[in-house]
Amino acid sequence: MSPTQLIDLERYPIDDLTSESGKRLVAECRQALDEDALCMLPEFIRTGALPRMIREIEELSCNAYAFDTVRIAYDDDTGVWPDDHPRSIAHRCRYGQILGDDVGADALIRKVYGWPTLTEFVRQALGEDTLHLSACPHLALTAQVSGPGDRNGWHYDTNDYVISLMLQAADCGGEFEYAPYIRSQTDEKYDAVAKVFEDPDQYARRLLIPPGTFTLFKGDLSLHRVRPIGETARKRLVALFSYHHAPGQVFSPDYVASLKQRPRLGELRA
Ligand SMILES: [Fe+2]
Repeated sequence: MSPTQLIDLERYPIDDLTSESGKRLVAECRQALDEDALCMLPEFIRTGALPRMIREIEELSCNAYAFDTVRIAYDDDTGVWPDDHPRSIAHRCRYGQILGDDVGADALIRKVYGWPTLTEFVRQALGEDTLHLSACPHLALTAQVSGPGDRNGWHYDTNDYVISLMLQAADCGGEFEYAPYIRSQTDEKYDAVAKVFEDPDQYARRLLIPPGTFTLFKGDLSLHRVRPIGETARKRLVALFSYHHAPGQVFSPDYVASLKQRPRLGELRA
């Protein structure tokens, strides 16, 4: 199957961005990102193509590296803070991560990710002058596999954007929660962050992202998490696409090696 068969191009004419409907789509994406830090494109993947994409990821899930840790929401872990300060509060993170090494050249998510037409659409939707696929063979294309008890704790992303493709939702839990643009480049707004931690029902937005949805998210300034997954027969499966403004971006060998030190889900089950 080619990307043109996988993506609903009638609803999302990303292959014709000079048309009126194409321009409108880009403008709507930019507006959503500006206002909400998030742009969801439901049914981006044609319903008929989803089962095969899900099956491919399920077959790879035993290769997923098991991530299970507690961490603070901030990447820079410096300074001494009071125990109840947002920088001191740790959040549990647990999920499986399939690295690109294990995703074959013929995998449908790789065909979608590698389609230059999609990259150009993402570039325009993000309003970037240039945009390239990450060149990292390990982390350019990854997938998250989450089962009962898994979750991703409150955090900011270290990269500007995260582009994701929801393949399968859990039967219970696993909702995406976020506080759009809660901080700025110059103001961490710790009081507002503390309120989100204490009472996310009131101070965060909650989304159940349907399977097939392509999502652009500005996560560097928007606090976010994935709520714990409850009892579920179906795993929550999300593909993550990595881009960079310059060509040739790779992650450090030390970082990649640290990821690969974790056990694989298949080893844990054995
Ligand atoms: Fe994130």
